[in-house]
Amino acid sequence: MVKVRENYLRAFPKKEDFIAYMSTWVSDPKEETSIMLWAVKKYKLMPYLHYDLDSLKEIAAYVYETNFEKEHKGHTNISLQSK
Ligand code: HEM
Repeated sequence: MVKVRENYLRAFPKKEDFIAYMSTWVSDPKEETSIMLWAVKKYKLMPYLHYDLDSLKEIAAYVYETNFEKEHKGHTNISLQSK
């Protein structure tokens, strides 16, 4: 999610654009509309999640607001180092 957030922030610096694109994309993940095609090629398309659009907007807003590297250290710091 750290990488997804980075890429989305670069592509959609404005919060409303970020939320709109991410929530729509996650509600219907498609290769054609991916902004991270290399990730799709490497890991395959992420699964369809049964969240309604309003929930996805809330999740996208949370992702926009949260610096995971700062606020969530995970189990080890190693897993959060950029590749
Ligand atoms: C609420 C939960 C989740 C949100 C908001 C979310 C959001 C996203 C977004 C925005 C992308 C990048 C889309 C793009 O390519 O432009 C992505 C990629 C990805 N996600 Fe998720 N995701 C979630 C849950 C999951 C889960 C549960 C899995 C696996 C079981 C998963 C696996 C992946 C993978 C493998 C990619 C990279 C390949 C791709 O872009 O499809 N995600 N996710």
